[in-house]
Amino acid sequence: MIVTIDGPAGAGKSSAAHSLAKRLGFRFLDTGAMYRAITLEAMRRQIDWNDSGALASIAENLDLRITDDCVFLGGEDVTDAIRSFDVTTHTRHAADNLAVRQRMVQLQRELTADADFVTEGRDQATVVFPDAEYKIYLTAGDEVRAQRRYQDLISRGEQVTLAEVLQKQQERDERDRQREIGGLRKAEDSIEVSTDGISPEEVVQRLEEIVSACR
Ligand code: DC
Repeated sequence: MIVTIDGPAGAGKSSAAHSLAKRLGFRFLDTGAMYRAITLEAMRRQIDWNDSGALASIAENLDLRITDDCVFLGGEDVTDAIRSFDVTTHTRHAADNLAVRQRMVQLQRELTADADFVTEGRDQATVVFPDAEYKIYLTAGDEVRAQRRYQDLISRGEQVTLAEVLQKQQERDERDRQREIGGLRKAEDSIEVSTDGISPEEVVQRLEEIVSACR
C-alpha cells in the first residue's frame, strides 16, 4: 500500500510523512533527498550545471542507499550534507533534468515495491504513484514555510537571513510549479491539508484520521 504526500517546500511534509509512516507501521521514502543526493555528488565532482548529460550519468550510476532516517552516498552518511543551503539552491538542476527524473521515478517504484510506504515529494500522486491508495497534498502559507526553513538552517549553523530564505523559497516554488514534467501539482484525487497554525502532532493526527477514515 502507498500513501503519497506532496506539497511545496516547508509545508512540513518530511516530518509528517515520517511520523505517519511510523504510526501506520509503514516504511518512509523522502524523494527530495534523492534529488539532493545527486546534486551533492555533482557539486563534489564540480560538473558544469549546463551539462545535462553529466547529471543524467550521475543519476544513472548513483551509489545511493536510502533508509527511513538516513541517506548514504557510496557508503558515506550524507543525511545532513544534503540539507545545506548550497545543495538546496542547486537541486533545481537535477529536478529539471528529464533523464534524471525518469531514473528517479523508476528507482522510487523499485524501492517501494516490496513493502507498504509513505512517500513524500512533489510528483508522487501525479506521476510516480497515480494509483496510490491514499493521496495527501500538504500546504502552508509562505511566511510560515520560510520561518520553518530558516529555523532549520540556523539550528544547523548556516548564515542566512529570513528574507533570503523567503526569496529563495519563492523562486523554488515558482520553478517547482512551472516544471512541465513532475511539477508541483495537486492531483485531482488528493486530499488537501493545511499545516498553518497547527502543531506537527496535530498534522500527523489529521493525516492518520484521513487514512483510517478511507480504510
Ligand atoms: O522536498 P525537498 O525540499 O527536499 O526537495 C528538493 C528539491 O527537489 C525541490 O526543489 C523539489 C525537487 N523535488 C522534485 O522535483 N520532485 C520530488 N519528487 C521531490 C523533490
